[in-house]
Amino acid sequence: MRLVLLGAPGAGKGTQAKKLIEKYQIPQISTGDILRKAVADGTPLGKEAKSYMDKGELVPDSVVIGLVKERLSQDDCTNGYILDGFPRNTAQAETLDSVLADMNASLDVALSVDVDMDILMKRLTGRRTCKSCGQMFNVHFSAPKKEGICDKCDGELYQRDDDQEETIKKRLDVYEEQTAPLIDYYSNKGILTSVNGVGNMEDIFKEVIAKLDTVTK
Ligand code: AP5
Ligand code: MG
Repeated sequence: MRLVLLGAPGAGKGTQAKKLIEKYQIPQISTGDILRKAVADGTPLGKEAKSYMDKGELVPDSVVIGLVKERLSQDDCTNGYILDGFPRNTAQAETLDSVLADMNASLDVALSVDVDMDILMKRLTGRRTCKSCGQMFNVHFSAPKKEGICDKCDGELYQRDDDQEETIKKRLDVYEEQTAPLIDYYSNKGILTSVNGVGNMEDIFKEVIAKLDTVTK
């Protein structure tokens, strides 16, 4: 299954993607995670990307599209993948379509995780992520058993640099302006489905699976 996850910052794309990896045995391709790793490693790409990410702006398309093309050509993508955070605007979506067409492939489904804007700020300021395994927690909604320590692997939890209130506001604006139009883009292609992203994470996951099963059968 070739799946695009759509949704505002904090909607729960990463949270649901982690569960989908296990269920469908396909990789998550998160452009945000790839860029954050490049920043942490101090690579030239990371240095370029950091200035955009810290401001809550999109990294230039040329940079991100190159990363995704390279990733999609790797062996573990043969049976499909979960694109999380890509595409982010119409230009990226159109390029993705043509890259896939060149590979004789196309997307199966775009799944939008819908959450009202007023909930997102609390989710993002409260988010903590494990440095080792990437598991997400939330100090307001799903706190780790021991403060600062991952329940799954005992790794150290950190707060993302872009999860500061001012940067979050900018990210939400960028989402509305540039990414939300993709809902119509995929709807027009007939591959859009959506779930309510508010509520218990496991219940949301059940709805996600139910929606994906109807689309892919
Ligand atoms: P990216 O990493 O993609 O961030 P984002 O889109 O802003 O989305 P988030 O990762 O913040 O949210 P999420 O939906 O994954 O939520 P999560 O599951 O963590 O991008 C970061 C930056 O990189 C961009 O600003 C840009 O600069 C750059 N970038 C990335 N891709 C790019 C691209 N294609 N083009 C250009 N630039 C790009 O959940 C959030 C919190 O809520 C967690 O604490 C979680 O535990 C909690 N939570 C989740 N579900 C629930 C629930 N049901 N109930 C209660 N709490 C919940
Ligand atoms: Mg994410």
